[in-house]
Amino acid sequence: FHVDMNADEADKGTYPFYMLKEVDEQPNVMRKLAQTYLSEHGEPNIDKQLLQAMEAADRLYIIGAGTSYHAGLIGKRLFENLAHIPTEVHVSSEFAYEQPMLSEKPFFIFLTQSGETADSREVLVNVNDAGYPSLTITNVQNSTLSREATYTLLLHAGPEIAVASTKAYTAQIALEAILAKALGELTGQIIAQNFNIRQQLGLVATGMQAIVDEKDKLEEMSSKYLLKTNRAFYIGRGIDHAVSLEAALKLKEISYIQCEGFASGELKHGTIALIEAGTPVIGFITQAKTAGLTRSNLQETMARGAQTLTIVRESLAVDGDDLVLPDVDEMLMPLLSVVPAQLLAYYTSLNKGLDVDKPRNLAKSVTVE
Ligand code: G6P
Repeated sequence: FHVDMNADEADKGTYPFYMLKEVDEQPNVMRKLAQTYLSEHGEPNIDKQLLQAMEAADRLYIIGAGTSYHAGLIGKRLFENLAHIPTEVHVSSEFAYEQPMLSEKPFFIFLTQSGETADSREVLVNVNDAGYPSLTITNVQNSTLSREATYTLLLHAGPEIAVASTKAYTAQIALEAILAKALGELTGQIIAQNFNIRQQLGLVATGMQAIVDEKDKLEEMSSKYLLKTNRAFYIGRGIDHAVSLEAALKLKEISYIQCEGFASGELKHGTIALIEAGTPVIGFITQAKTAGLTRSNLQETMARGAQTLTIVRESLAVDGDDLVLPDVDEMLMPLLSVVPAQLLAYYTSLNKGLDVDKPRNLAKSVTVE
């Protein structure tokens, strides 16, 4: 894997918007992370002191806002599965003022693309006052949260200019996976030893490339199902639910369509009342354990008039699925399943004639609480 990222990478080049360029860069970001944080033999190359500080903890607390919070939800699965360490994920603006009861030896992980989000910094200030160890995972070297945390890991994703975050989300997840593998190996977890992260990230990069090469299909799906609607749903279970939150956020922030990401089994407890004839409901089906359940939840919405669409991993696909994703390890499927959602949001915004990169009311980096 050799990737060059040079100074003019922040140039839009021939792209109409930064967001599309940044979506397209994701395969290279995966390769760059593998190159930076894995040895030639695929062993994680992570600061020993950081790993020891994490190993000494009895619980991880992941803190983030917006898309970074959503990347944390996937991180929970990775740290719990690969490193067997209990992990909580919190929205920073909530945690700052309603701090839950902490474990005896907490370790804090701050996810922040910019390293400047005031809500997240407020938590870090409290964490430092209490003397707890922390790690900031950020895309911006020397940013405030990177300077103020005990440890920093950089995302190396190159500048992200579009307000809607894309490559930072997938970079955060990939780096969490590398870190969880390293920690799990240190604590002797067989599952971590057997997890071939180098091979997996290679498969992810190839899979992402295949999806971004199918842009036309996503533009078509956007025109057919999303362009004319003012309400939509993404649904799934487990980490598919976590991805549905991010997918819905992408659509909301740049296309202004009201969109909910929902736990598919919970729909029937009230929210299904919102389904009308033609309401688009997009289901993520990438986890074997819950695939059948999400399919029946989709059928329940269809019976109430919904226009359902499926985004499915290849080994779980059946005839009639709308978008089939290449197979990678289940834990890493979010790295692939989010990409079509990014593109659906992009084309919906584009074809509505909106400013994709600079949506109304939003800022790239929010430095007020
Ligand atoms: C802003 C951006 C979001 C981002 C969030 C957190 O609201 O518009 O895209 O996810 O801040 O930013 P951070 O830099 O901390 O990841």
